[in-house]
Amino acid sequence: MNPGMDRIVILDFGSQTTHLIGRRIRERGVYAEIVSGTAPVDQWFDGDVRGIILSGSPASVYDSDAPRPDPRVYEQNVPVLGICYGLQVTAHLQGGEISRSESREYGPAPVEAVSNSPLLQGLSSRFVSWMSHGDALKRLPSGAREIAVSGHGVSAVVEIPELSFVGLQFHPEVTHTEQGGLILDNFATGVCSARRQWSVENYLETLQEDILRRVEDRPVLLLISGGVDSSVVAATLLRTLKPEQVHLMYIDTGLMRKNESVEIGAALKRLGARHLYLVDAEERFLTALAGVIDPEEKRHIIGDLFITVQEKEVSRRLTGEYLLAQGTLYTDLIESGHGTGNAAKRIKSHHNVASPLVQAKREAGLVVEPLAALYKDEVRDLGRLLGLPEEIVGRHPFPGPGLGVRILGEVTQERCVILREADALYVQALRDAGLYDEIWQAFAVLLPIRSVGVAGDRRAYGDVIALRAITSRDGMTADVYGFQPEFLRNLAASITNRIPQVGRVVYDCSGKPPATIEWE
Ligand code: XMP
Repeated sequence: MNPGMDRIVILDFGSQTTHLIGRRIRERGVYAEIVSGTAPVDQWFDGDVRGIILSGSPASVYDSDAPRPDPRVYEQNVPVLGICYGLQVTAHLQGGEISRSESREYGPAPVEAVSNSPLLQGLSSRFVSWMSHGDALKRLPSGAREIAVSGHGVSAVVEIPELSFVGLQFHPEVTHTEQGGLILDNFATGVCSARRQWSVENYLETLQEDILRRVEDRPVLLLISGGVDSSVVAATLLRTLKPEQVHLMYIDTGLMRKNESVEIGAALKRLGARHLYLVDAEERFLTALAGVIDPEEKRHIIGDLFITVQEKEVSRRLTGEYLLAQGTLYTDLIESGHGTGNAAKRIKSHHNVASPLVQAKREAGLVVEPLAALYKDEVRDLGRLLGLPEEIVGRHPFPGPGLGVRILGEVTQERCVILREADALYVQALRDAGLYDEIWQAFAVLLPIRSVGVAGDRRAYGDVIALRAITSRDGMTADVYGFQPEFLRNLAASITNRIPQVGRVVYDCSGKPPATIEWE
């Protein structure tokens, strides 16, 4: 929370897209916060709240356990916007009639305005919206008026002036709704008169005060993974605390990408890191993985050993009371059911989550999570603001077990080198072609087979590298990236020329589902 800053509160009833509502509003400079849909008003309402949004939900208003907002939501003298279920539950509570439907209307639907509303200011009178609903409004409650209808004859925008309420049957937060961001902006800054006070720059000061209050003069330990989130936490701590207080540990499992350990170490030193522990654990990991080919077994070995190494290395360096910093994001909290009425949709699978060190620190109230109010894009902006290089801030996601799950079959030092080289050539080619930032995740995989080729006049058996490139919003689903054939042809030639062990390069054309992003 940011005292003194205008705020829109989003009540979450479990829709998949609730946190997109928050993102869209914050993108336009207004602070938005998500709370559980059923939370009593006095838990979250104060003088800074300028408007309330009721999210969608997989529930029907007729379900016996349908989530209901606190009735006082409509009595706070601030405008209320209902989206899909948020409209239906309000209409239902006001005596309107909702028709139940077994089938869902899902996909694009044209909408036509039949009356003026500040919510639709700046939009054309017909636009395409994105619908995803089963139930719909059959009879409006008394005092309500229809502002727009969908091509299927469903009430698409409805006002109940007495309650300062306006409801949408469609989802303005998804990019498929034309000008959906403008509708949310009209609500936040037009209907609610919220000021655009939110930016990562403004937030940094509040964040620093918060960290100083929590940490005081005690040391803080942060485990760096090489990814964006932990790097930005490190940069934030280094900017806020005395350099002697910040202890950064990076465990090199030998399963990292090329130059990753060196780059991260150099970037953190440039930001003033004094206590930077680079733990070279390659040998320990490769010894433990020798002869193992089962993917699940590999994951377990890597995860367990990571915890063992972490405990040992930390206890060697830090004693007495210290805090542990974590790179938890706003979406992680939402997804694990903290902020919302929504049960866990996805739990990040990372060794740190299960680590006894993290659990013990959490129980003792000694965990600091500086990014817990931020979305991923905002974390990247904060990283840039704090001076982290673009190669770290814009880096593609990388799985906790690292190359261990991208080397199919046995993980050996030699195979790590082959994959690291192929992956580095791939990433460099993407950067050279200006494609890196268009792609959500791109990486090379070393297959557990050998294939026939010719080397000079002789037949040769070479390794096979598979290339993967996907676009995605959150990693839950993914589309294959469509390269120009020329790009792939040149890249395959460069990989086979520079890495003599590789005889063949293939491109993975599978979407998710049915394939996962990683191969193991
Ligand atoms: P899948 O392969 O499940 O991957 O489609 C979805 C996203 O999660 C990443 N991933 C992991 N991240 N530990 C992690 O921290 C893991 O064990 C792990 N497995 C997959 C993957 O890279 C993709 O971004």
